[in-house]
Amino acid sequence: MHDFRYHKGRLCCEDVPIDEIARKVGTPFYLYSHQTLRRHFLSYQEAFAPVPHLIAYAMKANANIALLRLFAKEGGGADIVSAGELQRALAAGIDPKKMVFAGVGKTKKELEAALRAGILMFNVESSQELVALDEVAKEVKVKAPIALRVNPDINPKTHRYISTGLKTSKFGIEIKKAAGEYQLAARLSNVQVVGVHSHIGSQLIQVKPFVDALRRILKLIDTLRGMGHQIRYWDIGGGLGIPYHGEEPPLPHDLASGILPMLKESGCTIVLEPGRSLVGNAGVLVTRVIYTKEGEAKNFVVVDAGMNDLIRPSLYEAYHDILPVIKKRRQDVTVDVVGPICESGDFLAQGRKMPQAMPDELLAVMSAGAYGFSMSSNYNARPRPPEILVHGGTYDTIRERETVTDLIRGEKIPEFLKS
Ligand code: LLP
Repeated sequence: MHDFRYHKGRLCCEDVPIDEIARKVGTPFYLYSHQTLRRHFLSYQEAFAPVPHLIAYAMKANANIALLRLFAKEGGGADIVSAGELQRALAAGIDPKKMVFAGVGKTKKELEAALRAGILMFNVESSQELVALDEVAKEVKVKAPIALRVNPDINPKTHRYISTGLKTSKFGIEIKKAAGEYQLAARLSNVQVVGVHSHIGSQLIQVKPFVDALRRILKLIDTLRGMGHQIRYWDIGGGLGIPYHGEEPPLPHDLASGILPMLKESGCTIVLEPGRSLVGNAGVLVTRVIYTKEGEAKNFVVVDAGMNDLIRPSLYEAYHDILPVIKKRRQDVTVDVVGPICESGDFLAQGRKMPQAMPDELLAVMSAGAYGFSMSSNYNARPRPPEILVHGGTYDTIRERETVTDLIRGEKIPEFLKS
């Protein structure tokens, strides 16, 4: 569910017509609905209310500090994957005791920063990382609270680029080896085992892989406790999908009804790491048509947003609905919606049947709130678009449009090239 609806032929975000915002801020821009974000967060809170839990928002999906603050105000924490995300989360006012830190390549510097901040738990992904963390913790003179990220070897039935829980994946520790790694952890004097973590993939549209994976992990928790490990936190990862193109993914409530008995049985505090399902449908990318172009084999709609603004279609052949911001009675045509970037892979839609678009018209690329801005780049020296947050009948710029001055900041022409 989201809050982008037509009102008298104008697409609105909550109570604000999108064309009005476009006139003020120019295009392209990202636009988010406060109401949708909050509702999605609360639906997780409600669904998991029967167990002690923490919703550690996977901020890689969209790390704008206004969004982080919004979730923090409702009690949310953060799943971080770098020192940069740690700093962002701190800047947004998220309590470090509500942060968990995943990632296969945490450097010693990053481990140190997170230790000094006093985060809840490190989700450790290899034995070398475990040893490195032990060393850093010794220097900092604290005990590092850890979970091991365990790879349950379950096929999440999603795109291969976003499956993470398979044997062939670089993530986590194989479930067969997990008990041995926990024994290693117990021998290290500067780390303290506090939990177990897994995350099997993203854009999951069935509950079953989740249930299967967690069943394996619950067994592991029993084994580990039998060996004397104190497992207090069970971090079940993120991954619930959203409808991009008619999918009917489970809602937090559906997931909860499939797994709550297991979670309760564990007696653990449950950590969840949703990303996309919180922010995906809460955001759109608004773009303007520059030209239309008729080719012999194909017709193109050239817009002012490109793969540098939203890379998901190019990278995963992901489908995003594209809607006219002002509804007009037009014939449906089949087109490629392409950006201005000098790459054939620069498209937002291919072979899309949609109402004929005209130059200067506004289009909304839907479900772009997750992995949209956060994966954007400056390719072709394109300043990144602003981000706008709607709140009822008003809106705020939560990130300014970049300028070319921003882009070249830090670059230098060396002396020998100056003359
Ligand atoms: N926890 C961990 C350890 C993760 O690696 C991820 C996502 C999440 C939680 C959040 O997953 P979500 O709830 O958002 O599915 N760029 C891709 C998605 C990459 C996901 C990476 N990890 C996309 O645009 O589809």
